[in-house]
Formats: sequence, C-alpha cells, structure tokens
Amino acid sequence: MKKILMIILPVILIAGIAVYQIANATTQTIGGLMDKKVLVAYFSWSGNTKSIAQKIHSQTGGDIFEIKPVKPYPSDYNETAYGIAKEQKEKGIHPEINNTDVSSYDVIFVGTPAWWYTMAPPVMTFLAENNFEGKVIVPFVTHGGGGGYTIDKDMADLAKGAKVLKPFVVYGRGSAGVDNDIKDWINRL
Ligand SMILES: Cc1cc2nc3c(=O)[nH]c(=O)nc-3n(C[C@H](O)[C@H](O)[C@H](O)COP(=O)(O)O)c2cc1C
Repeated sequence: MKKILMIILPVILIAGIAVYQIANATTQTIGGLMDKKVLVAYFSWSGNTKSIAQKIHSQTGGDIFEIKPVKPYPSDYNETAYGIAKEQKEKGIHPEINNTDVSSYDVIFVGTPAWWYTMAPPVMTFLAENNFEGKVIVPFVTHGGGGGYTIDKDMADLAKGAKVLKPFVVYGRGSAGVDNDIKDWINRL
C-alpha cells in the first residue's frame, strides 16, 4: 500500500501542477481579455495604423477610437514629415486632440505610426492627458522600415501607472498573413 501511494502521490502532484499552469495560461489569452473592457485607440495619418486598428478591434471587440489632432496635419508628405511633425518632435509639442474618457476601460490598445523614431505627437497627448493608473496598455506600431524603436517604453513614460505590454510591430499595413500574426500576438498577451 505504502509503495503504491509513493508512486501515485507524485503523479497526482505533477498532474495538479500541469492543470494549474494550463488554467493560468488560458487566462492570459484573448478569452481572458474579452472579460475586460477593451478600447482600441489609434492615430493614423495615411491609413496603415487605422487598418491594423480595425483588424485588432475585430478580434478583441470593445470600442474603437480614432485620435485626431484638432488641427489636422497637411496631406502633403513633406509638409507633414519635414515641417510640422519634425517641429513638434524637436520642441516636444503635444498637439491638442479630440480626447476620450478612458476611465471605464481596463485594457487600452494604443496604435501609432512610427514618427521620427517614436510615437506620433497626438498619441503623446492622448497618453499624457488621460489617467492610465492601474490600466493595461497594449501598443501597436506601424513603420516604414525602422521598426518599433522604444515606443513601448516611451508610452510607459507618458502613461503614468499603466502596465505596458509587448507591442505588435508591423511594416506598413503588413502582408497577407497579418490577420494571423495579430491573432497569435493577442493570444500570447
Ligand atoms: C512624419 C512622419 C515621420 C515618420 N518617421 C518614421 C520613422 O522614424 N521610422 C519609420 O520607420 N517610418 C517613419 N515614417 C513612416 C511611417 O511610420 C509609416 O509609413 C506608417 O506605417 C504610417 O502609418 P499611418 O498610415 O497610419 O499614418 C514616418 C512617416 C511620417 C509621415
């Protein structure tokens, strides 16, 4: 009897640990996220980040909000990139935006194009002017070849008290597999 117990008890223990780990892992998946109140907030100048935001939103549900500067950027690339955006970056300007109240959300996906090695200034305004204490921020970034830089860390600096997760980073609008990439990323959060 003693011998049987010595064999069975470790098996039960190991099985228990495995069940605990699986249960814990599944609470981190999109199923866990859907119990939370989710907002997908993004800024997009030429549509790439908007496209990714819509794909994320179609998987997470919740609300979606487009961050817009009160004074729109020019439609001309050079005027925006080498004019106003560069000036805002150099002077640390947070332009006025249409804002939204984030207080009722638990998880806020925050999307931005890479602009001058960091997030676009309207996203800085959004993060600096709202209270993110105790909330989870999930960054997503579209870029033109430079990658995600330190945008997740830059977001953490602005959104005081938030937990900032691993960002989804994609070139342009992504390739044909982008929907699956987004799904995998959300499942791993
Ligand atoms: C003002 C400005 C600055 C940019 N700076 C960068 C940059 O530093 N690194 C990079 O990889 N791409 C840069 N890009 C390219 C954009 O990040 C890229 O095209 C992005 O996908 C555009 O997103 P959107 O269509 O949502 O505006 C810049 C584009 C603009 C307009």
